Amino acid sequence: MKVDGVHYRSIWFNDETGKVQIIDQRWLPHEFRVVDLTTRKDFTAAIRDMWVRGAPLIGATAAYAVAVEMARDPSDASLADTWNVLHETRPTAINLRWALDDMKTLLSPLPASERAAAAMTRANEICEQDVEANRMIGVHGLEIIRSIAARKKPGEVINILTHCNAGWLATVDWGTATSPMYHAHQAGIPVHIWVDETRPRNQGALLTSWEMASHDIPHHLIVDNAGGHLMQHGQVDMVIVGTDRTSAHGDVCNKIGTYLKALAAADNNVPFYVALPSPTIDWTVKDGVAEIPIEERGGSEVTHVQGKLADGTVAEVQISPDGTPGGNPAFDVTPRRLVSGLITERGICDASPEGLAALFPERVLD
Ligand code: MRU
Repeated sequence: MKVDGVHYRSIWFNDETGKVQIIDQRWLPHEFRVVDLTTRKDFTAAIRDMWVRGAPLIGATAAYAVAVEMARDPSDASLADTWNVLHETRPTAINLRWALDDMKTLLSPLPASERAAAAMTRANEICEQDVEANRMIGVHGLEIIRSIAARKKPGEVINILTHCNAGWLATVDWGTATSPMYHAHQAGIPVHIWVDETRPRNQGALLTSWEMASHDIPHHLIVDNAGGHLMQHGQVDMVIVGTDRTSAHGDVCNKIGTYLKALAAADNNVPFYVALPSPTIDWTVKDGVAEIPIEERGGSEVTHVQGKLADGTVAEVQISPDGTPGGNPAFDVTPRRLVSGLITERGICDASPEGLAALFPERVLD
């Protein structure tokens, strides 16, 4: 998508420098910094410390990490070690394991001399697949928005609430939850987005708002607690969120607070959709609440916030009393009964084993 009119992806291989580059998201929206990732240590830090984040982008970054490491040391030991080191960085987003497994399956049978080139080709393909999957999510999601528009007066605005950042910065391009919004906007359907700020790290405030503004999509930033009130007063037509891991039975793990939005949506008959590319489905998990590991992050993300000072510098401030510990579960699981539908690259399905199996018949449950 565009930054000041220039098309960017969130990660790319720079043919001129031979390096993988990312947008360092820790500084957005106040500073736009592009950095090179050159060593496995760089990639590991980038994922763990959230220079990049969002399930599909974490997967793409891990794939490039394997490629870069294979160029340094293509041995079996290096491949195994790289899988382990990367896998430990963030536990919830399944796209990480998906990408690492994909790379390992491809590379293991190859002679060491062929691994580096094959790995880089595959990492680039994973990025292209993500872009295309997200584009198709937009095509399918647009139909839902069109059907809501058809029930409204001509030209009436469609209000969509989203949580966290499931935008292009969380993927390679387009975003998942945001792709239907971009498609609707481009189709001339008047959409307005309620952007949850998404404490503690404020991905909505910092990233989604910036993405929306960059494409002139009308939006308002709201505090995380406002959604229920807006739904009660008919000011939300639908919710679209992303997911870090969706179980084979349709339970949806996403950024902390998503579950509360789903409860409020159910109480107010507001459709609650989840947008996801298929690598986000964990076919080994049935009961998402019981089985999906939830990342616990540092308490300082809760007790401190980062923002721009009046003099333009980006700084972090403490908002709680000295010594108050922060508790920080980073994700929650929304049970499938609260999900109106899953928007995938292959189409829209019920959040159920049957719904997912119908769209992905080649997958069998363990
Ligand atoms: O902790 P983050 O910022 O990586 O969490 C991101 C989310 O929860 C997104 O909603 C999810 O990864 C879907 S991204 C298309």
